[in-house]
Amino acid sequence: MLMKRVFVAMFLFVTLGLVATADDSKEMTPAERGKYNLTHRPYGFPLLNQKMFARLWTVWEPEWKSKVNPEDPDQIRRLSFERYGFSEAPYENGGAPMQFVSTPVGWVQTCMLCHGGRLPGSGESFIGAPNSELDMQTFYEDAVKLTGLKSPINMSFGMSRGRTNAFVFSIELMRRRNEDLSARATPMPVGEYKDADLDPIPWWHFKKKTALYVDAGVKGDFTRPIMQFTMGEPNGEKIKSWESDFKDIVAYLRTIEPPKYPWPVDAKLASEGKKVFEQNCAMCHGTYGPQGKYPNRVVPLKEVGTDPVRIEALTKEFRAYFNRTWFAKDAQAEENPVGYVAPPLDGVWASAPYFHNGSVPTVYGVLTQEARPRYFRRAGTIKDYDTRDLGLKVESLAAPASKELSGEARRRVIDTTLQGLGNDGHPFGFHLTEKQKRGVIEYLKTL
Ligand code: HEC
Ligand code: HEC
Repeated sequence: MLMKRVFVAMFLFVTLGLVATADDSKEMTPAERGKYNLTHRPYGFPLLNQKMFARLWTVWEPEWKSKVNPEDPDQIRRLSFERYGFSEAPYENGGAPMQFVSTPVGWVQTCMLCHGGRLPGSGESFIGAPNSELDMQTFYEDAVKLTGLKSPINMSFGMSRGRTNAFVFSIELMRRRNEDLSARATPMPVGEYKDADLDPIPWWHFKKKTALYVDAGVKGDFTRPIMQFTMGEPNGEKIKSWESDFKDIVAYLRTIEPPKYPWPVDAKLASEGKKVFEQNCAMCHGTYGPQGKYPNRVVPLKEVGTDPVRIEALTKEFRAYFNRTWFAKDAQAEENPVGYVAPPLDGVWASAPYFHNGSVPTVYGVLTQEARPRYFRRAGTIKDYDTRDLGLKVESLAAPASKELSGEARRRVIDTTLQGLGNDGHPFGFHLTEKQKRGVIEYLKTL
């Protein structure tokens, strides 16, 4: 019964989807079409609809339920956004947050679930800013409780707020398909991998990259590799039919510029910091301004010393399998990655927390081992920001979250002793004096 409803729904929404886009996408540049596709076209399954979203609170724990005024739909929406880490779309979106596209038959998850977040300070929703507020695990648990729908795959969506186990979904969804993306009866063996919470990469660096991902592990034409994020859609032929849409999405991603730092900057301190940066950081992170050069430098794990799980978690078998699939026809995954790429640092103020796993809340912490809290929780609201240390305002805790707390409350505490969340390494700024560090931080605000 339910399956039938879902099929009817999918049929409707595919037909309506095609009609709706035929007119709208004329006369646009590829980048404009790409932006339109990302923000208006569904690439996957409708998970729930506005009515269901408004009822999710009925499955919340008592401490959350007690905050709800059932007579006030706006208040319920605000609380729901706060609980899951959703934000209002900065474009007409049929009532859905920017993390979904609204279709006649329901809301379909978009790339902005993870790649659309609010900027600290203004709280403005920004396409391409990592969603540092997302708790995907709580959202899916609640949606399953409310709808009774169950994912066929048992896996963790993430163990800490603001991060997701994104590569593990990729592995689990891909090993259930053949190389041509048709369904496989038995999952492809891909070796022993590990769960690893990852911080999404800001999209404003995309234009500078010669390889994708934190290990610079995928080279070639990026169109098909980024389509692996649509594998929630069961029908492989349908995924393939979206390739031209994604060519335009790639063109759009290349146009995204970093958001400007919105608070005052000490120009004199910043120009001193620029010199320190050029001597100590630029060989890896590049130079900026009109003549700026970004070296796309991958730093071996032994040298950078940050958490190794992301490199070890993706097995060689999986990378080799990826290379045989449709996604890799014009691209190639590195089968033996050596370490992490040094990312560009323009707009770095807006992509806190730092490192590939978001294990360090501030840039000052990146430069100073003792300023990295072992357990921390975000403090205040989106308006709050640590302008001195450049990064998230957090509360440092003496202990990990108590096991008695709900999963939602536990995931707000970042425990850097957990697998994949380690906050060691990157010793490259430790030797700087306090004054030099403050200068570098001031300089980074200007990029
Ligand atoms: C569940 C969260 C999630 C969703 C949904 C998601 N991404 Fe990502 N994305 C990530 C994470 C995490 C990374 C970093 C992974 C890594 O490098 O290990 C990433 C990396 C990327 C990168 C690499 C950027 C770079 O500079 O190397 C691109 C491009 C990208 N995603 C595009 C997309 C597109 C397009 C979609 C929608 C079709 C999408 N993502 C959906 C979480 C997500
Ligand atoms: C030897 C190369 C190298 C040098 C030198 C270096 N870094 Fe890095 N840096 C990296 C790598 C690699 C990463 C990514 C580590 C990870 O994500 O695990 C990184 C990450 C960072 C990040 C986090 C970025 C983010 O978005 O998560 C910041 C900030 C940073 N470096 C600042 C600096 C500053 C400031 C200096 C100079 C004092 C510096 N780095 C020197 C290689 C380097």
